Amino acid sequence: MEQQPERRKRILSAIQPSGIPTLGNYLGALKNWVSMSEEYDCAYAVADLHAITVRQNPADLRHRTLELYALLLAIGLDPEKNLVFIQSQVPTHAQLAWVLNCYTQFGEMSRMTQFKDKSAQHADNVNVGLFAYPVLMAADILLYQADFVPVGADQKQHLEITRDIAGRFNGIYGNVFTIPEPYIGKEGARVMSLQEPEKKMSKSDPNVNGFISMLDTPDVILRKCKRAVTDSEARVAYEEGRGGINNLMGIYSCCTGKPMAQIEAEFEGKGYGDFKIAVAEAVIEELRPVQERFHEYMGNLDYIRSCAAKGAEAAQRISQRTLDKVMKKVGFVL
Ligand code: TYM
Repeated sequence: MEQQPERRKRILSAIQPSGIPTLGNYLGALKNWVSMSEEYDCAYAVADLHAITVRQNPADLRHRTLELYALLLAIGLDPEKNLVFIQSQVPTHAQLAWVLNCYTQFGEMSRMTQFKDKSAQHADNVNVGLFAYPVLMAADILLYQADFVPVGADQKQHLEITRDIAGRFNGIYGNVFTIPEPYIGKEGARVMSLQEPEKKMSKSDPNVNGFISMLDTPDVILRKCKRAVTDSEARVAYEEGRGGINNLMGIYSCCTGKPMAQIEAEFEGKGYGDFKIAVAEAVIEELRPVQERFHEYMGNLDYIRSCAAKGAEAAQRISQRTLDKVMKKVGFVL
């Protein structure tokens, strides 16, 4: 019998345009998006539908969406080789999300920790979209029959619910969806705040010293690293419970590729001052080429808009196949 060629594994991931991405977004997710882009069929989205679960200023949202698209090209994604698109330009996402809402239980969604955190942060706007957010995420992933989803550790619970929803749907209707696996890197999966190392680094942190934005200038990066909270031990060693220093070591390791033992040896007998400067320099070097390309792309927004339009068209075509299958299965007239 003739052997079927094995299909290339598929990847889908997305990022919200809710602020300039941080070093956490970069090391936890975006860097892996690029490294996976050669080997797999990848689809990457700017998740603007997700962003409106929190109130946005329309002009800012539009600008940040284009800016984030430009940043995705600047990190090294090639829009000719990968699907890079803006979620709201591809209607299948909202369409599948509605169907999946009807296959998701209120009880299981109530357990989502991100919903609990965000509804506490935005107590005046606990909207239904915020509650149903992970279902839209499931739709994003399942539409492309993704095998792997590169994310930071904070998205693990949302990946688990995606798998549950897909498994349930397949259990009723047969094999409609590929069951996706999270891809969470070893280092960088959870970059912590520089000011409160028990909290994840977040682009919406009101304390700007807590995060490094991907567009921070070298002097800002240096200042934020120097101010990073550590302990009083003055010893560069990765040990359980040493939040601040472990976090800086994780960042340094991700940017330089050096394992922890090598970092410990390199800074043996040196204080935190030297180490913090070395961390800042490594981050600056890591971000420098990305920032240069970003500013070039932002000088040509027509190009960015046209790449996004092409990406949306291709994403629509691919995702429509899955949506058609789903519509047929649930009994809609096609
Ligand atoms: P978002 O926009 O909050 O973050 C984008 C990616 O960055 C990762 N990340 C981090 N990784 C390590 N350390 C941190 N401090 C850190 N902060 C953020 C996130 O895990 C994520 O991978 N709901 C998603 C966006 C989304 C999505 C999807 C992701 C929408 N649809 C489908 C995957 C698949 C979100 O809000 O990510």
